[in-house]
Amino acid sequence: MDYINDRRSIRKYKPQIIDKRLIDEILNAAILAPSAKNRQPWKFIVYSGTTKDEVLAVMEKGLIKTKEELKNMPNSEYMLSDAFNTLRIMREAPTIIMVLNTNGSSPFTDVDTFARITEICDSLSIGAAIENMLLKATELGIGTLWIANTCYAYNDLVSYIGTTAQLIGAVALGYADEAPTPRPRKSLDEIVEYR
Ligand SMILES: Cc1cc2nc3c(=O)[nH]c(=O)nc-3n(C[C@H](O)[C@H](O)[C@H](O)COP(=O)(O)O)c2cc1C
Repeated sequence: MDYINDRRSIRKYKPQIIDKRLIDEILNAAILAPSAKNRQPWKFIVYSGTTKDEVLAVMEKGLIKTKEELKNMPNSEYMLSDAFNTLRIMREAPTIIMVLNTNGSSPFTDVDTFARITEICDSLSIGAAIENMLLKATELGIGTLWIANTCYAYNDLVSYIGTTAQLIGAVALGYADEAPTPRPRKSLDEIVEYR
C-alpha cells in the first residue's frame, strides 16, 4: 500500500543512470503480473544512452509527420503538443522501456470482434505488468512515467524497432528530480455503486 500511495508520474529526471540489475528487478516484477489465459503477451525493449537517443529521434520524426497530417483536425494541436512534451521528458529520463504486445497487430488494421476481445485481454494483462513495474520501481526509489504518446509516432517507431508486434507504449525510468503532490482522484462516491 505504501508504494501504491507513493507512486507518482515523474516528469523531471536526474541524469544518473540506472543499474541494469535494478532494471532486471523491475522487469522481474512485470512478468509476475496475471495475464489472460497466462499468455504473457509482453515484450520489453530497454533503451539507454545512444540507442535511446536514436529511438527518440525516430519518435520525433514520427510526431512531426503526424502533426502535419492532423493539422486540420480539432484538438490535434493539444494532442501533439502533449506528445512533444512527453518526448522531452523521455529525453531527460536515462532509460526508456518500449512495451510490446507480441500477439497484437497494428492499431491501423481492422480486426474482427473476437480478435478485438483477445487484444483487449492482452492489453489489460500488459497494463497489469506495467503497474507492477511502476510499483517495484517506487520501492527501489526510481521514478517512472507510463507513456502512451508513442502512438502518435506509431508506424515510424515499429518500423525502427523492427517488429510486427503491437507497440503498447513505453515506461520512462530515472531518479526523480521533482516530488509531485498526489494528483486528484475521483471519490468512491462518484464511481462505486453497491447493489
Ligand atoms: C495508459 C497511460 C498512458 C499515459 N500516457 C502518458 C503520456 O504519454 N505522457 C505523460 O506525460 N503521462 C502519461 N500518463 C500518465 C498520466 O497522465 C498520470 O498517470 C495521471 O495524470 C495521474 O497522475 P499520477 O500517475 O501521478 O497519479 C499515462 C498514464 C497511463 C495509465
